[in-house]
Amino acid sequence: MGEKPSHEIGRARHVAIIMDGNGRWAKRRGLPRSIGHQRGVEAVRELVRSLANTGLDCLTLYAFSSENWKRSDDEVGDLMNLMRKFIKSDLPEFIANDVRLKIIGDWQALAPDIVEMLEDALDKTSNGSRVLAVALNYGSQQEIARAAAKAAAIGEVNERSIAAHLDTADLPPLDLLIRTSGEIRLSNFLLWQSAYAEMLFIDTLWPDFTPQMLSHALDDFAQRERRFGGR
Ligand code: FPP
Repeated sequence: MGEKPSHEIGRARHVAIIMDGNGRWAKRRGLPRSIGHQRGVEAVRELVRSLANTGLDCLTLYAFSSENWKRSDDEVGDLMNLMRKFIKSDLPEFIANDVRLKIIGDWQALAPDIVEMLEDALDKTSNGSRVLAVALNYGSQQEIARAAAKAAAIGEVNERSIAAHLDTADLPPLDLLIRTSGEIRLSNFLLWQSAYAEMLFIDTLWPDFTPQMLSHALDDFAQRERRFGGR
């Protein structure tokens, strides 16, 4: 995946997105929330198709948080079914487009058939060169607590050791975090990894997000001067 950090190569290597606003997108059109999520998946699909053109090594998407279980059973069921459909229909495209799937979060606790599908998809995409990391049943505080426990078990509790035990340990440092739909908060997503990331909050609702918007965000990122605490 290359060792150089993004500030040495002048472009972002790793972007993460909080895909927010599916519900509002649907509500504005008098449609059920499930349609908003369906259109959200369409936006994901287009973005993954454009991945090779972005120059990114990794795109991380917040698809289902550990807190999303609090939604109605119907909505949780819809999201899980969309996940099943998405993996099934898009796996061949991932393979053809050199995408390596990665899952972060406590995904092994999902329904057994989903875990099985994901294991198969991870296996079949393991040679891909660009990473699509999907956060499923993910909570950043939980991830940090798990990593800290592993670090403690080997008697080495320090920044490097905790980072090495995060779910994202094998991914490049996070350069840019984008949240759609106008909300300005992190919602328990990549808290540790965001320490020096640039942030972009945009009003667009997730189903309306396009590869062109990502491309603009990346151009904008390339103009920013990052100091990492120095001057
Ligand atoms: C936020 O919209 C979005 C989610 C809770 C889940 C994001 C999921 C998808 C884009 C679809 C599933 C993804 C994959 C990869 C298959 P919201 O419902 O919170 O919107 P609202 O704040 O407007 O109600």
